[in-house]
Amino acid sequence: MVSYCFLVLALCAAQTLCVTIESAPGVDGEGVILTELDRTVSLVCRSNRSEDEGSELVWLRNGATVALRPENRKGQSGVCVMPVTHQDDGATFTCHLAGNASVEASVTLNVTYPPVLSGSEEVWVEDDSPLLLRCDAFANPPVTVWWTLNGSALDLVAGGFTVTDDGFASRLSANKAEKSKHEGLYRCTADSSVYGIKSKDFLVTVTEKTVKFPLMPIIAGVVVVCLTALLAIVSRWKRIVKCCK
Ligand SMILES: *[C@@H]1O[C@H](CO)[C@@H](O)[C@H](O)[C@H]1NC(C)=O
Ligand SMILES: *[C@@H]1O[C@H](CO)[C@@H](O)[C@H](O)[C@H]1NC(C)=O
Ligand SMILES: *[C@@H]1O[C@H](CO)[C@@H](O)[C@H](O)[C@H]1NC(C)=O
Repeated sequence: MVSYCFLVLALCAAQTLCVTIESAPGVDGEGVILTELDRTVSLVCRSNRSEDEGSELVWLRNGATVALRPENRKGQSGVCVMPVTHQDDGATFTCHLAGNASVEASVTLNVTYPPVLSGSEEVWVEDDSPLLLRCDAFANPPVTVWWTLNGSALDLVAGGFTVTDDGFASRLSANKAEKSKHEGLYRCTADSSVYGIKSKDFLVTVTEKTVKFPLMPIIAGVVVVCLTALLAIVSRWKRIVKCCK
């Protein structure tokens, strides 16, 4: 990082006009700042020429102007990204002279984050019901998630499993859970070149189908009984009334 800073300064000295960006953490040879979620990145832009000391500076984030306090514009200007979020990944910060946009410098953030995979979860699924397990797969650098059942690679065909991965999550599903095929210890694993191996366990138990209480036939039965009783009373009532006349 230090040698790169000197390189930038040397280049600037050879030119007539320039702005330089100093950053913490430092930039690599491609102008990329490597950082992580929730960290802080601070950027300071300076114009190199003494006659530009009082000149105003402008900061852009992905081409949109960053609001700066007036005292943070002249000769030297700092911006702080705090905390670094997912949205900052790939964001480009550009600083230029307010009076001449072609005098500029820029840096790009590379925000790394691991997939959120840890611990173990107990899952109960009824016999014949769908089984669905989900693992986070959102990571930079990107990761591939793979699944095992009882320690062996998943047999997609034999288990009737479907695995999908949309870059955010990896989903394992089976339409109809069967005790013999689907009960066991599932593990999803991702190998990140930066964060190493991460995994999450699911202990799946297939339970017997619960017998649903047959509510509708009971209601129908009760209604029939009530109507019969009502009709009986009505017909008897007519007789009673006749008697009294
Ligand atoms: C802006 O800066 C460039 C590079 O130093 C220079 O060639 C150009 O003449 C400047 N333009 C203005 C309007 O000052
Ligand atoms: C960001 O940094 C990681 C870790 O060094 C690297 O694997 C990845 O390729 C970089 N991404 C970009 C877009 O530069
Ligand atoms: C996985 O292991 C458990 C416990 O040993 C066993 O009960 C279950 O049947 C196994 N699952 C499969 C699909 O082989």
